[in-house]
Order: sequence, then structure tokens, then C-alpha cells
Amino acid sequence: MKAIALTKYLPIEDPNALMDMELEKPSPSGHDLLVAITAVAVNPVDTKVRAPKDQVEATPKVLGWDASGVVEAVGPEVTLFKAGDEVYYAGDITRPGTNAEFQLVDERIVGSKPKSLDFAQAAAFPLTAITAYEAFFERLGIDVDGANSGETLLIIGGAGGVGSIGIQLAKIAGLNVIATASRPESSKWVTDLGADHVINHYEPLRPQIESLGMKFIDHIALFNNTDTHWDAVVDLIRPQGKIVSIVENKNPLKQDVMKLKAATFVWEFMYTRSMYQTPDMIQQHHLLNRVARWIDEGRVRTTTGEVLTPINAANLRSAHKTLENGRTIGKIVLEGWE
Ligand SMILES: NC(=O)c1ccc[n+]([C@@H]2O[C@H](COP(=O)([O-])OP(=O)(O)OC[C@H]3O[C@@H](n4cnc5c(N)ncnc54)[C@H](OP(=O)(O)O)[C@@H]3O)[C@@H](O)[C@H]2O)c1
Repeated sequence: MKAIALTKYLPIEDPNALMDMELEKPSPSGHDLLVAITAVAVNPVDTKVRAPKDQVEATPKVLGWDASGVVEAVGPEVTLFKAGDEVYYAGDITRPGTNAEFQLVDERIVGSKPKSLDFAQAAAFPLTAITAYEAFFERLGIDVDGANSGETLLIIGGAGGVGSIGIQLAKIAGLNVIATASRPESSKWVTDLGADHVINHYEPLRPQIESLGMKFIDHIALFNNTDTHWDAVVDLIRPQGKIVSIVENKNPLKQDVMKLKAATFVWEFMYTRSMYQTPDMIQQHHLLNRVARWIDEGRVRTTTGEVLTPINAANLRSAHKTLENGRTIGKIVLEGWE
């Protein structure tokens, strides 16, 4: 099968950073589906895993953690899907990724592809949808059915992949959403997705929040640069409020004011369930199906910013390069094999 893989961890300008290869087609066992992949999306995790270092892989490593495709075969324990089903999923960081014609993935972290979307548009959603859904409705404990309606949510990094779906999920829950964006085009993007207010993450946050008539924020989601924004979000969170982050910190995060406010800080990592095979990992199957229903009902719109054709090393290197500049709006998707 065709695949795009690496053996060395090189700067993205190096043609060997990601290479077209022929690899052996896998076959499914246990709970695995064998999926014929039609489209993939790229995420910052791909560039973080690919980041230059001295390590050399003995066998080619396939990256990529967002796909849509068709189930080709199933393992003996599979009960949720059958051959021919159209699916979308993010996969498991500990296993070979989606940048291949065929991939094995555990059925419990796979959803049925939204019927109203083509494969390219569907591939843009899974990783970011799982992340934002778990961040809001599981880690922050916001009620998806509206019990927290009218409460405020600040999303740091509104126009990125996670922010773009996050704004829409927060509006479904009835929240008053303040999203950050720094440029006219990213500000327009978050407004079009439903953000009630837009503030600039490169300007001090408190004065901008106060100019909206707010003193404290009920819920805060750090979807970008935890280190840079930590002090500001600790200042803004309401007493007894909750902050979630999806971005690893490089420096210690001061906790003194968090203690005074009896505030909670919680991590979201969308790979936790598959990495640790948690007993509730099937929740990702359910949440992807729920997001697919919202898409088909017209309550969630596409977050795709750009589609590149076909899926090959040259286009994937170009997508990684764009992502590495940190200014992507929405998602970058690759579709079809040559
Ligand atoms: N824990 C998890 O499970 C998980 C899951 C998904 C992603 N992540 C991580 O979350 C981060 C965001 O992912 P993503 O896919 O949304 O990234 P992305 O699409 O690459 O984000 C791009 C956006 O980031 C904004 N941005 C750039 N610098 C910023 C800053 N200093 N403060 C706030 N926003 C800034 C830009 O907005 P402007 O152009 O308007 O400046 C741009 O629209 C990445 O670090 C990723 O690895 C973690």
C-alpha cells in the first residue's frame, strides 16, 4: 500500500522529512477495523512528533491522526461496524497513523462519517472535535444540554483547528463565547463560526474583557500557548471556576492565585483513552456519532480551511510547513491517492 512515512526526524524543508513509500497492508484482529483511507487532516501533533531530533527509526514511521474512509475488513471481535461503512476517526498516538492507504483502528474510537459531508470535509473534524468536546463537556463539566446556558467561556486560540469546532460546540451548549484571534481574517472566521465576542491574544486580556462589561469568566479553555496566557487566565477565572488546557507547558504554572480562588485546573489529552485503553474509551465512538448528527442537522459547519490533492509526501510536507508557522485558520485536509 502507499504510505507517507519517515525514518529520520528532519526539518520540513528536507525532502526526506516525509517520504512516499510502499508498506505492507495490515490485516485486522480483535476490535480493529481495516479502513481504506480517502482523506486525512493534519494537526500540530504531527509536526510535534516529526520535530527534528537525532533518533532514527528502524522501520518507517507513519504519522497522521485524522481520517475519513471506508471499512474494508473487520477483526473477529468487532460489533459496531461492517465492511463498506463510511467512518471518520482520529486514531491512537501509539499506533501507525492515518497517512497510508490502509490503517488499523480500534472500533471504539471510530464514528460514522457525517452523511452530509464528503470525505475531505469529514476528515477535518475527528481529532479537534474529540478534544473540544472532552475539554468542555467532560473536563470542565459544562452541560452539553444547556444547564450552563448564558455562562461565559473564553477560548484562547479561537481560529485554530480546535477553536474552530470548539466555538460551535460551546454555542450548542448555550454559552456566551469570547474567542481570541489576532488578525482581521481570523477574527472574521471566529465571528462567522458563532463567537459572541472576539479579543486579541497578543494584547492584555483583562482590559479587553472589562471593555465587554465582564470582570471574571466562568470557564476558560487554553487551546494555545499555555505558558504565555497562564497568568492572564488565572486572573480572569471566576472564584471556583475551571480552566482546561490542551497545550503542554514548558515552565511551572504558578498556583497561588488558583488556591485563593479555589479554582480548578484540568488537562485534556484526546489520546488518553486510547493510550491507556480506559474502560470508557467507547465514549469517543459515541461523541463522534453525536458530532456527526449535529453536522447533519446543520448545527455544526465545516472547519476546513484548505484541501490539498492528492495525499502524497510533497503535499504533506507543504501542510506541515504551513502548520508550523502557527497561523493556520481552520483545518488543512489532504484528499485522494494518485
Ligand atoms: N491535548 C490535546 O488533546 C490536543 C488536541 C489538539 C490540539 N492540541 C494542541 O493544541 C494546540 C492548538 O491546536 P490547533 O489544531 O488548534 O492549532 P492551529 O490550528 O495550528 O492553531 C492556529 C491558530 O493559533 C492561533 N495562535 C497563534 N499564536 C497564538 C497565541 N500566542 N495565543 C493564542 N492563539 C494563537 C492563531 O490565531 P491568529 O492567527 O488569530 O493569531 C491561529 O489561528 C497545539 O499546540 C496542539 O498540539 C492538543
